[in-house]
Amino acid sequence: MIAIASDHAGLELKKEIAAYLDGQGLEYKDFGTYTPESCDYPIYGAAAARAVASGECDRGILVCGTGIGIALAANKIKGIRCATCGDCFSAEMTRRHNDANMIALGARVIGGGLALKIVEIFLNTPFEGGRHARRVGLIMDLENES
Ligand code: RB5
Repeated sequence: MIAIASDHAGLELKKEIAAYLDGQGLEYKDFGTYTPESCDYPIYGAAAARAVASGECDRGILVCGTGIGIALAANKIKGIRCATCGDCFSAEMTRRHNDANMIALGARVIGGGLALKIVEIFLNTPFEGGRHARRVGLIMDLENES
């Protein structure tokens, strides 16, 4: 199950991503927003992130205007590693090296074609483990700092 969420700025791109997931036969749960009215991206990013952190969803895809604010919100939830990606190389490497469990896309930054390619790479690239697992562990240890 894939969690998806956006604010108003990301709504149309999120719909394109949902259609892509439908075409791939992949199940997803949409944590909002559902209308074009202006809204606050942390609410929706955090809702999807909680579903990934709890194990209800395996991965998450977020969209806002830049892909930055909604990623910042998601990364406040324990267990989340959300990378803002605007290119294919970053999408591949954040899976291979960071074991990112969420990505965030900027609907005002990239077009739909590139966004769907980034989603495809994010969903199909494995984590390399090894020395990268140690580094990801060090990142996650930071969550325990008071
Ligand atoms: C909304 O105007 C915009 O600030 C939001 O979509 C996002 O880009 C924030 O990071």
